Amino acid sequence: MRKLLIMILSLVLASGLAALAACNSAADDPADDPVDGPSGGTQTGEPDEPSEPEEPDEPDEPSGGEEQPDEPDEPVADGSVLVVYFSATGNTEQVANYIAEYTGGDIFELVPVEPYTSADLRWTDDNSRVVQEYAEKQAGTLETVELEDVTVENWENYDTVFLGFPIWWYEAAWPVYDFVETNDFTGKTIYTFCTSSSSGLGGSTEVLEAMAGGNGTWLDGRRFRSSASQSDVKSWIDTLNII
Ligand SMILES: Cc1cc2nc3c(=O)[nH]c(=O)nc-3n(C[C@H](O)[C@H](O)[C@H](O)COP(=O)(O)O)c2cc1C
Repeated sequence: MRKLLIMILSLVLASGLAALAACNSAADDPADDPVDGPSGGTQTGEPDEPSEPEEPDEPDEPSGGEEQPDEPDEPVADGSVLVVYFSATGNTEQVANYIAEYTGGDIFELVPVEPYTSADLRWTDDNSRVVQEYAEKQAGTLETVELEDVTVENWENYDTVFLGFPIWWYEAAWPVYDFVETNDFTGKTIYTFCTSSSSGLGGSTEVLEAMAGGNGTWLDGRRFRSSASQSDVKSWIDTLNII
């Protein structure tokens, strides 16, 4: 009986130990103990290997591998265009530049041998150069204001000439006379343009046409305000059907 009791106790003890061992081995297996990490993944207790930094994308090859020329986005006149101008204080020059840019024309500035200073231009001062010249002009005694250059290279190649000036006492400023008297406008179309505080072209075009001996087709162009914009100029050029 005593032997039987010892055997039963031994069996119970053995099976208890076996169960305990099984429990311990399950607790050591990390795969059986998931914990949500910050990224929702599974932490195993070991720190993650740092992932390799991503290679930066290769820059795209330019298509065709060559630089593409800029598309011209502005109209350019078919024939040869020349923009000639005199400007004492820069307003007419600005318009002339806009015309040349928009038509793709060449530009030629009329520069007096003796340029006008701001004192020369004081029309309210009886002793200023412009007031004296104006008096002489009215009296028919004004000597032509000499220009540094009146000869345009390849003049014969230009079909269309824009001629610009400021308005001085309701007419084209007289420094343009030297150019108009010297050149032959035969076969050319001439568009006059001016800047002024408020006056229009008045009789400027007719006076200049007569000075050119009636040669060429002289057309009244446009008067611009002193601070004309590029779009003012474009809208005018668009009406001329030359581009
Ligand atoms: C001597 C002189 C006379 C002028 N006479 C007139 C005129 O009769 N009517 C007018 O509207 N502006 C007149 N002005 C203003 C100019 O026409 C205007 O400022 C013009 O835009 C100047 O052009 P510029 O900067 O190309 O020289 C006169 C200016 C000067 C210096």
